[in-house]
This record gives sequence, structure tokens and C-alpha cells, in this order.
Amino acid sequence: MITTRRSFVCGAGAAASVAAFPQISLGGARQPETRPIPSSGERIPAVGLGTWITFNVGDDPLLRDECADVIAAFFASGGRMIDSSPMYGSSQAVVGHGLAKLGRADDVFSAEKVWTSSGRSGPAQIEQSRRFWGVPRFDLVQVHNLVAWNKHLPTLAEMKAAGRLRYFGITTSEGRRHDLLEEIMLSHPLDFVQLSYNIVDREAEKRLLPLAVERGIAVIVNRPFRQGALTRHLEDQQLPGWASEIGASSWAQFILKFILSHPAVTVAIPATTRVDHVRENIAAASGPFPDAAMRDRMAAYVRDL
Ligand SMILES: NC(=O)c1ccc[n+]([C@@H]2O[C@H](COP(=O)([O-])OP(=O)(O)OC[C@H]3O[C@@H](n4cnc5c(N)ncnc54)[C@H](OP(=O)(O)O)[C@@H]3O)[C@@H](O)[C@H]2O)c1
Repeated sequence: MITTRRSFVCGAGAAASVAAFPQISLGGARQPETRPIPSSGERIPAVGLGTWITFNVGDDPLLRDECADVIAAFFASGGRMIDSSPMYGSSQAVVGHGLAKLGRADDVFSAEKVWTSSGRSGPAQIEQSRRFWGVPRFDLVQVHNLVAWNKHLPTLAEMKAAGRLRYFGITTSEGRRHDLLEEIMLSHPLDFVQLSYNIVDREAEKRLLPLAVERGIAVIVNRPFRQGALTRHLEDQQLPGWASEIGASSWAQFILKFILSHPAVTVAIPATTRVDHVRENIAAASGPFPDAAMRDRMAAYVRDL
């Protein structure tokens, strides 16, 4: 059974139908579904690109160019959001290299982070990151892993008000500090929250994802593949024949479609070193999505493997 994301929002057991979210057809290539950022209504493609580890390749020119190839395939497939952090070693500079080489600095939706325990050094760190990327300003700056969040959030709000960034938010991963994140989501006007969520890590479904819908906060999903452990675990297993009903032709697409069919999710940001994988991941953002009954079936299938 398949359904639109909207009918899924309207409740379990909604009638099955093909996804009706906007997909622009350009030259026959299917474009990824776009989803609105609740605080502005601006739409962004539902699959982005992570850079932790995969883009931390140092100064090696060949490896940097391989990352640029991944970015090129990402844009060619309709992707826009790239996520990085000062925590990710050379990844920021490698993103900047790719954007400059491809001349795409104007096309990226830049999602960065501030990651320092000192509130005062936040703006300087953000400026350093901006130079690495070579963008005029960041679209989104997130407080990484809630580090010094009470110092950074007021600064990010001021920067947004002054037009020096477009959105701000906060991140966590692997289920850490959900109680505190919930408090912050309730008390601060965040544009985005970023957290871990996938077919086996579903803690966020209990409180954070419903709260994001209620508060109008966009959700970025990190670690969709548990840093590759999930795809590696599944790769020797048979993909069920009924995966074709939701347009999934690989385990990676099966997992991404599960994530993207949650009504709170705006963007998932899988990381990859491979051009074929980036194409496969973005393709998961088009075509049908599972409804509630199909989601249960998918989760049970993976659980029983
Ligand atoms: N607190 C935070 O703010 C936080 C924490 C964690 C992560 N993040 C963000 O979230 C991003 C994603 O999380 P992650 O890096 O932990 O890992 P992930 O996206 O869950 O997994 C990445 C791994 O999946 C593999 N993969 C990607 N596409 C695949 C495909 N189609 N088929 C098979 N394997 C595939 C990659 O290998 P190949 O290279 O072989 O494709 C890579 O090893 C990070 O890069 C980062 O930007 C943020």
C-alpha cells in the first residue's frame, strides 16, 4: 500500500494513493520531492548530503576531486542541502573546493554548525566556516550537539535578524539529550532541529517528531544508515518483493523512504563517498512513499531479519 505524505499526516489507515508532493520533471529525469520549511514556506529537496568522515579527506587533490564528483552528481540529481560542521576535520574546506570547482556556491543550501563551548568565539568560528565554504552567508547554522546552546542560540537569532544567516537550529544524534532538546524546542523559536532517526532508531517518534510538527520546526534526519552499519547489515539480505510497491530498489532506498514518510521529516542527509550512491539516495525522494500500514510492515521485516 502506498500513500501521500499528506494523507499519512491525516492518520493511520488513510486510503492508499500515489505521492502527490511536487516533483518537477526535467528532461525525463525525476526530480526529488521538495518539502516546505515551516517557518518560511521555502521548499527544499527531501534528501540532502552529509559530510562527516566521508568528506574529511585532507589535502589529497584526487580525493578532493572525488568529493567534488559526488557534489556534482548530487546537484545534477536535484539535491541542494549539504550539511557540515567545524567538527568534521577538512570536510568544510572539501565542500568549498567542490562548490568552487563546480561554480555552484549560489545553488547550495548550506547547513553548517557552531561547535565551541565558548559563546564569544561562536561568530568567529562561523565566519571561518563561511570562508571554507566560499558562500556569502549560510542558509542554516545549527548548534552542534547542544554544545553551549544557551550562549549560541541568542547569537544565531541576532544574526538571522540582521540577515547574516537565513535559518537557525540545533542538533543532536544517536538519541542523546532528547529531554533537553525537547525543552529547547518548546522554549525557542527554532527553524530547524536535526536528530537521528531511521527504521531501527525510532525514539524520536515518541515526542520530538510530533513536537516539531506542533511547533512548526523543520526536521533534518542525520545518521539515516547508522553511519553505514545498517546498510552493511542489510546488504546480504533479500529485499522483499513488495519494496517495489514503494519504489525502493535497494536497501538504502527502503530505509530512506521509511524515514521520509514520517510526516515531521523535512530532509534526510545521508553521507557517501560514491557517485552511484548519491544518485540512488536522491532517487529515494521521488515516487511513492509508504503509508502507516506499510511502514509497520517495513519495520517488522527489518526487525525479524
Ligand atoms: N550531531 C550532529 O549534528 C550529527 C551527528 C551525526 C551525523 N550528522 C550528519 O549526518 C550525516 C549522515 O550521518 P553519518 O555520516 O553518520 O552516516 P550515514 O549517512 O548514516 O551513513 C553513511 C554511510 O552509508 C553508506 N552509504 C551511503 N549511501 C549508501 C547507499 N546508497 N548504499 C549503501 N551504502 C550507502 C556510506 O558508504 P559509501 O561511502 O560507500 O556510500 C557511508 O559509509 C553526517 O555526514 C553529518 O553531516 C550530524
